[in-house]
Amino acid sequence: MDSPERTNRTHTVTLIPGDGIGPEVTSAVTALVEAAGAPAGARFAWEPFSAGRESFEKQGEYIPKELYASIGRNRVALKGPVTTPVGGGFRSINVSLRMEFELFANFRPIKNLPGLPTRYPGLDLIILRENTEGEYVGLEHEVVPGVVESLKVITEKGSTRIAQFAFNYARRNGRKKIHAIHKANIMKMSDGLFLRCARRVGEGYPEIAYAEHIIDNTCMQLVLNPYQYDVLLLPNLYGDIVSDLCAAFVGGLGLVPGANLGADCAIFEAVHGSAPDIAGKDLANPTALLQSSILMLRHLGEDAVADRLQTAMEKVYVEKKALTRDVGGASGTKAFAAAVLEHLA
Ligand code: NAI
Repeated sequence: MDSPERTNRTHTVTLIPGDGIGPEVTSAVTALVEAAGAPAGARFAWEPFSAGRESFEKQGEYIPKELYASIGRNRVALKGPVTTPVGGGFRSINVSLRMEFELFANFRPIKNLPGLPTRYPGLDLIILRENTEGEYVGLEHEVVPGVVESLKVITEKGSTRIAQFAFNYARRNGRKKIHAIHKANIMKMSDGLFLRCARRVGEGYPEIAYAEHIIDNTCMQLVLNPYQYDVLLLPNLYGDIVSDLCAAFVGGLGLVPGANLGADCAIFEAVHGSAPDIAGKDLANPTALLQSSILMLRHLGEDAVADRLQTAMEKVYVEKKALTRDVGGASGTKAFAAAVLEHLA
């Protein structure tokens, strides 16, 4: 059989450029994915869609039906950040897509890049966040004026499937330890159920050490000594918050990738948001989305293309000539992307 290196193949991928810095980082990344794939015969057909405010203004829908249909067909998407209004307005596009396609696992690797000095060299953590339950889905309503109720729904099914994902991931990837993070001393029933499910699943994986830490202590422990952790398994909201904390360990939000994974569908996106403070100024670091695209390439079975892109990106960090400002350089989004492209040649 022909190896993937020698056959011509086209991957159709739904593309959501997003808002703020989204279009800048997605255009840099799609060009790099295409350049990395071409010599190996891998082609990419992007199906682009707007979402959020822009889509509403153009088409009267925050998530166009065609976008749902495209992801439904392709089962894979690359997504830029989308601005979500604070304290009102429409529901988060991210939450809606995660719910629609049952993308129950949010996978966020926290790893140092070669050549980039940080306070915690050699860190290699995995954050696995339940992605469809808990406070984060925003089930809220006003009971009477002045009283608002927010529902935190945790189910045995949802908690078991993310725990199974975490233990399977650990087993397949030689990870040694899982910490389930919780607040079950206060949220006795909801976080208590999350923990019971994790413990039960963990019994089937005796080679993987299992421990439980309370979320507030975890934040302190992470800052004191993040090396004590290997895989962090968290309910939705805690995972959201701890992801940004851990991003700071390896150089900030400009670097950390993510994947929203379901049984047969995946949306790849950076941890960061639309960064309105730097949007449109050629200041955004495209590395986080680039690393998300590398996760996507591996998901598509394009490991050689992923390796090529990873190596080219790492060379730019080692050389330190074209780094963006968030990581101590003086270059812009385009110059960084051009430097990666040069190393792909
Ligand atoms: P943010 O992640 O957009 O920005 C936080 C800080 O990190 C800012 O100082 C920003 O300049 C910096 N930053 C973020 N990404 C960067 C990059 N690639 N390169 C260099 N610097 C970068 O968080 P913020 O400001 O709290 O949220 C802005 C908007 O993004 C909100 O509407 C929020 O709802 C949305 N958001 C969307 C997400 C998504 O679509 N996946 C995720 C997180 C937030």
